Amino acid sequence: MPANEIPRKIQLVRIAHVYYQYSDLEKAVAFLNDFGFTEEKRVSADKVYFRGYGTEPWVLCATRGDKAEFKGASFVVESEEDLQLAAQILPKATKIWELEDAPGGGKCVTFHDPVDGYPMHLVHGQAPVQMLDIPLPHEPVNYPTEKNRPVNKFQRFEKRPAPVHKLGHFGVRTTNFAKAHEFYTAHFNFLASDLIHDAEKIDRTVFYRLNRGDEVVDHHVFFFAEGATYRVHHSSFETHDFDTQVLGHDWLREKGYKNCWGVGRHVLGSQIFDYWYDPFGFIMEHYVDGDLVNASEPTHRSQANPGSLHVWGPAVPGEFLPKD
Ligand SMILES: [Fe+2]
Repeated sequence: MPANEIPRKIQLVRIAHVYYQYSDLEKAVAFLNDFGFTEEKRVSADKVYFRGYGTEPWVLCATRGDKAEFKGASFVVESEEDLQLAAQILPKATKIWELEDAPGGGKCVTFHDPVDGYPMHLVHGQAPVQMLDIPLPHEPVNYPTEKNRPVNKFQRFEKRPAPVHKLGHFGVRTTNFAKAHEFYTAHFNFLASDLIHDAEKIDRTVFYRLNRGDEVVDHHVFFFAEGATYRVHHSSFETHDFDTQVLGHDWLREKGYKNCWGVGRHVLGSQIFDYWYDPFGFIMEHYVDGDLVNASEPTHRSQANPGSLHVWGPAVPGEFLPKD
């Protein structure tokens, strides 16, 4: 390629799934069931695939290993050419490999973040699945001066985990914001929905959506914020509605799991959030009612401030933004 030619960006279509390794797989599986995932395929005593109730064949792969570790998120790419390009140009990229034991199959390239070395995966050719037919409420809402629900009909809910629909986003703490931002925007169709800067006007946090032109996408699929050390921050999964989410909150609380932060309403992305610790200290989020945008919406810039994270809900716990 001539030196002055700008390489084509790898086209991401959607976020697909995440990999987590756990030191105690049975304990992890119990949490994941209580969180609302559906076990899809138990490959062995050391590997289990979980799906949501949407059309994606799986959203989380849980494996057994000597220590608990986040093993990266995956994005679906538009074509096999994207995989070929990824294998050629991305840092520490693998060759194209087959997702042999995964539901829905497909091909994958794994590369590594150029700043902190965590794995990222690109997939193509996965077969979609039928949505699971699970009972979900679709009742209209009564307002003081606008009554929408039928008369003589009652709201009755089942106590249960909040069923996961899909993976919505994930985020990490990076040790070099500028380098990471340059890399992800140079090589992929990530588009900043929000950039957050410090008092010196230096960008420190970004929330990316996918640039899919006129197509409507979630406000963010990937975010990172600068800090002293790398760590995965959280993975976030969409559930059905507010009642479903709070029933899931109660379910996890009654099972004895540790809440991290929530229920509350974010500002950037507007989701109603609920963050939980799994038994290994990973943060997992349920969200509902996030913002949808397309490429016509400009990037918004703002200065970090205590009110920029949420508009209602409990105060931000210190451990949500750890210093170490
Ligand atoms: Fe989130």
